[in-house]
Amino acid sequence: MSGPNTEYDPVAVTPLQADQVEAMRDQALAAIAAAEDLKALAQARSEHVGDRSPLALANREIGALPPQARKEVGQRVGQARGAVAQALAARTEVLEAEHEERTLLAETVDVTLPTRRHPAGSRHPITTLSDRIADIFVAMGWEIAEGPQVEAEWLNFDALNLGPDHPARTMQDTFWLEPADSALVLRTHTSPVQARTMLTREPPIYVACPGRVYRTDEVDATHSPVFHQVEGLVIDEGITMAHLKGTLDHLTTALFGEGITTRFRPSYFPFTEPSAEMDMVCFVCRGVDPEQCRTCRGEGWIELGGCGVVNPRVLVACGVDPDRYTGFAFGFGIDRILMFRHTVEDLRDVFEGDVRFTSAFGVEI
Ligand code: PHE
Repeated sequence: MSGPNTEYDPVAVTPLQADQVEAMRDQALAAIAAAEDLKALAQARSEHVGDRSPLALANREIGALPPQARKEVGQRVGQARGAVAQALAARTEVLEAEHEERTLLAETVDVTLPTRRHPAGSRHPITTLSDRIADIFVAMGWEIAEGPQVEAEWLNFDALNLGPDHPARTMQDTFWLEPADSALVLRTHTSPVQARTMLTREPPIYVACPGRVYRTDEVDATHSPVFHQVEGLVIDEGITMAHLKGTLDHLTTALFGEGITTRFRPSYFPFTEPSAEMDMVCFVCRGVDPEQCRTCRGEGWIELGGCGVVNPRVLVACGVDPDRYTGFAFGFGIDRILMFRHTVEDLRDVFEGDVRFTSAFGVEI
């Protein structure tokens, strides 16, 4: 700071001369105007407005002036500083707005974009339905049993009272495995799991066996060489056909709702005696005015599969005492149930593995 002046001598305080103050102001204004972003503006602020800026220093000189000069110079410097402060505020506003706009643009989130590029698949509806059916049996206290898909001919046929020359063997068009004397087949039904269960467990037996089975059928809208069945087997003392009927009624009611019960039609299977085909009430028309019903095609009933009281010859073949125990068994197609339950028109859709088919069933665990 300069020493006190007794006389106002503008020459002694050159920085306070009008053209000098204007030059400082103009430099400051130019620097502010030239600042392209907030960082450059902060730089201009410290250079031209900060404590060590020319105008701040000039301001400090005023106190050293003789009193008569202070007013004029004070005004001059004050105006210059005011103009710079104003320009700084205006430029700050402009640059902040620009900055905000750029940030918003850069951080824009398109909430309509799909969140996952790789959608999770869904379980196959046959798996879900098999599990659901298995759950119904488990809730009744039954166990779930499984067997191999490549099965011994003896278990698939002989143990079930279908000897080598039994005419009923032709009822099930069989895939035989090579070599011819391997005595292995792709199981034609889930009934060999009955035989396996009786051979390995002591009664009482309450098991359900869902699984994949094979027959040499041509592929069309209602046939496939591979399909799915659920087998049920009960072996206990005093078991009758009535227990079978009650179990099936419970199952169809649990799957399709109140009032969907079953009926028997006389039939023949070598492993059950007596045997029956089982039908359930059509869950769409409920047997009322079935002529119009496209689901059961006028029948009022939907065929489920076969059942009966276990033939004593099967009990003997599988090591169960037929004088003490009786039992019932049934086997029905899961694919048919899926088709009815979800109006699947073409069985090929079930087996082709197109995710557009499975994903329509949603994610059900
Ligand atoms: N296994 C028979 C079939 O596939 C169905 C069935 C099972 C019949 C159990 C009676 C008892 O046709």
